[in-house]
Amino acid sequence: MTIHLKPRSLRTFQSLLLAWYRAHRREFPWRADRDPYRIWVAEIMLQQTRIAAVIPYYDCFLRRFPDVRALARARQREVLKFWSGLGYYSRARNLHAAAKTIVAQHGGEFPRELEAALSLPGIGRYTAAAVLSIAYDAPLAVLDGNVARVLARLGAVRGDLRAPRAWRSLSETAQQLLAREAASDWNQALMELGETICTPHSPRCAACPIRRWCEARAEGLVDQIPAPRKKRAAVNIKIAAAILRDPHDRTLLMKDPGAHDGVFFSRMWQFPAIEVKRNARSELANHLRATLGVNGIALEALPEARHGVTFRNVTLLPFLAHVEQLPANAVIRGRVLPLESVAQVPISSATRKIAAAAAAAHTLHRH
Ligand code: ADE
Repeated sequence: MTIHLKPRSLRTFQSLLLAWYRAHRREFPWRADRDPYRIWVAEIMLQQTRIAAVIPYYDCFLRRFPDVRALARARQREVLKFWSGLGYYSRARNLHAAAKTIVAQHGGEFPRELEAALSLPGIGRYTAAAVLSIAYDAPLAVLDGNVARVLARLGAVRGDLRAPRAWRSLSETAQQLLAREAASDWNQALMELGETICTPHSPRCAACPIRRWCEARAEGLVDQIPAPRKKRAAVNIKIAAAILRDPHDRTLLMKDPGAHDGVFFSRMWQFPAIEVKRNARSELANHLRATLGVNGIALEALPEARHGVTFRNVTLLPFLAHVEQLPANAVIRGRVLPLESVAQVPISSATRKIAAAAAAAHTLHRH
């Protein structure tokens, strides 16, 4: 990729973008100060998750775990509870493990050295550069999807930006353009430009402070860059789940029951469930018999719910089953709790949707 700016032009380019950012930056809870812990948590939550979805979780998480020591001290299930619904739960497990390392090995301060930051669990090149630059002004350029789109349009880069060679070349360009004396604002300025002006669709070029350097605009290619990513073919999957309900309105959650639990239920508490092909009711009944020894119960189909996990389209098929007693063998491995309290333990969004279907059915039955 070719973005060659002469030194004077580079300085103009940098100061226009920095001035734009300082005038237009949005206030976010992680922009209130330069606390590396708060910036780190935000960067982890913002991976694969939209800003609007992150903000409420972020506020609750920081109220419960206000600093790295509070997070390091917490039980993992407490951390997962506060992550519950955000998805990609290994992020929370890594965050927790890294907090313990920071307390044990770095005196409770997020490391300032790139190598030390990179050796923490869950911290790759992007996150390390983001935290060290935003918190400490370390002269490290960040490259995420937003920044890559801005740079690709500036240099009219065709082809798949995520191809290793293209991405490497974009990283080099990002590093060359970096305003080294203002790395924190600079990196956030490029992200902000990508999020608010240089958007994937209908970018607002007229409001762009650096449009005079944009080759894509000069060549009329803004709508073609970046080139669409090659998507994996979607896979359709159906998961049937059983909400067992005893006369005291208690239900049973499990940890392992074999319905791709690592993918859909993220190794957290879930209803007994199984992937089904044709006859959801009978396949689920067989599964309950084989794994829990539950026989001859009536499974009442509740409204299905949709659940998208990257390239998978998941249809969740909840079934309600009234039982006299929850199966004793499963009670030992599983967890018994009032149906309305399932959100008190770490559950994924899929489990939350299934529980919501059961709660809605319960309200209907009562009225
Ligand atoms: N996306 C990822 N990190 C961000 C940040 N620090 N500010 C705004 N958007 C972001």
